[in-house]
Amino acid sequence: MATEHGVGADAAKRFAAEKALEFVEPNMKLGLGTGSTAAAFVDLLGARCRDGLNLTCVPTSVVTGRQAERAGVPLTTLDAVGWLDLTIDGADEVDPNLELIKGGGGALLIEKIVASASDRMIVIADASKRVDTLGAFPLPVEVTPFAWETTRAVIEQVLESCDVDGRETKLRLARDEPFLTDEGNMIIDLHLKRIGDPNALSYALNAVPGVIDSGLFLSIADAAIIADESGVIEVMMREG
Ligand code: A5P
Repeated sequence: MATEHGVGADAAKRFAAEKALEFVEPNMKLGLGTGSTAAAFVDLLGARCRDGLNLTCVPTSVVTGRQAERAGVPLTTLDAVGWLDLTIDGADEVDPNLELIKGGGGALLIEKIVASASDRMIVIADASKRVDTLGAFPLPVEVTPFAWETTRAVIEQVLESCDVDGRETKLRLARDEPFLTDEGNMIIDLHLKRIGDPNALSYALNAVPGVIDSGLFLSIADAAIIADESGVIEVMMREG
């Protein structure tokens, strides 16, 4: 039986990843996302590279870099190429305006830098990620380890005047220790339930000293490929 988190979701991720391959052209400079859907894409891309497709790719995390290397995908750094043609990445939520929550896997900062340095970003996602309003998925906020508790308190103050339905904040843990990103930072997950004004929230959070960035990806994605266990059900494109 197809379930959101089981075999059906795996098939959906694979369908979305397969469709994304259609946007990849020889000699492109490509950003590679992080997470299980992006991993399905890297897997397929590796097969194409081993068959002779010439690409230069920039991974958005240590994990993706290792997977790509094993799969035979040629890697470089963003600084070495400066700019990318296309980034393919997953998302935790996609709204009808192609605004996103990302960072469930903790790679939001590098994902945002890489996607923002790309001509185009295409999101690949299973249908459970498609939402009418952002916020049911806890919003990750990357913060400096220095004085993270103070930063968290300021974030909570900021949330008081934001159009959201929940205000609980939780330090992300991994095996009872603070989870650390590839850059050695911490993540505070904001349980907001509903984000009424993503732009205002993003602006307010990024103004807090100690906040490095949030998982709100606004005006970054150009398209989203949404699939379920039967195949691709929707290709969303940004207008204009
Ligand atoms: C990684 O930090 C995230 O932004 C992922 O892209 C996001 O969590 C989606 O992951 P899955 O494809 O595993 O659902």
